[in-house]
Amino acid sequence: MQKRQHIVAGNWKMNLSYLEGRDLVREITDRLQPTETLVVLAPPFIHLNNIGNIIHGISNIYLGAQNCHWAEAGAYTGEVSARMLASIEVGFVIIGHSERREYFAETDAMLAQKTDAVLAHNMRPIFCCGEKLDVREAEKQEELVSEQLHSGLFHLSPDAFRQVVIAYEPVWAIGTGKTASPQQAQDMHAFIRQLIAEQYGQDIADATPILYGGSCNPSNARELFQQPDVDGGLIGGASLKAADFLAIVNSF
Ligand code: PGA
Repeated sequence: MQKRQHIVAGNWKMNLSYLEGRDLVREITDRLQPTETLVVLAPPFIHLNNIGNIIHGISNIYLGAQNCHWAEAGAYTGEVSARMLASIEVGFVIIGHSERREYFAETDAMLAQKTDAVLAHNMRPIFCCGEKLDVREAEKQEELVSEQLHSGLFHLSPDAFRQVVIAYEPVWAIGTGKTASPQQAQDMHAFIRQLIAEQYGQDIADATPILYGGSCNPSNARELFQQPDVDGGLIGGASLKAADFLAIVNSF
């Protein structure tokens, strides 16, 4: 089996002033030990350029955006295009976070277009999927995640798909302090990898990083990352503290 990339991405969501963010990034870069894990920092749009300047030239740290629009340019007041993000060296874009799906009514059709826009500008999408609590209680989580991946991602060509990172984030675990158990995470990640294998073949499936997200913290990261199909994490709350975030980065 191919060795897969390990990735830990910090999703700051709508938190931190520029100065707070700058101090956080300085602390992270000062204390980051050499690692093969790719570290992605996804601050709010308005901080991207400045944070990008701080991390410029440091190996293994990449700039991530939390969202983008699907159109190349145009009359979309308040929006940010993939082309703009690529022009300031953003490497990764989070697509379809459950908060975007829930509060901004993002549909699978929009997410497919956003994914295309990200890839067209040579960035890598971190495509989020995951079920809400009622779906998990009805044991329909695999159906739902399969549907999300088929409608948002599986239109891609095999070559394009090689750039994709997937984040499995059970909605009931996000910001709730309630983590999926390592076994629950592993089961879903193995299922997702199987879906990719059916669509694109085993080689691509084996090479695709699948991250877990949802109340991941320094005390549960190691056990989650030890699961054979868990290749890292998409970290919300714990990415706002340098010590916690670095402890997670060092949890492989
Ligand atoms: P959390 O958020 O780590 O605060 O649960 C994860 C996410 O929403 O990406």
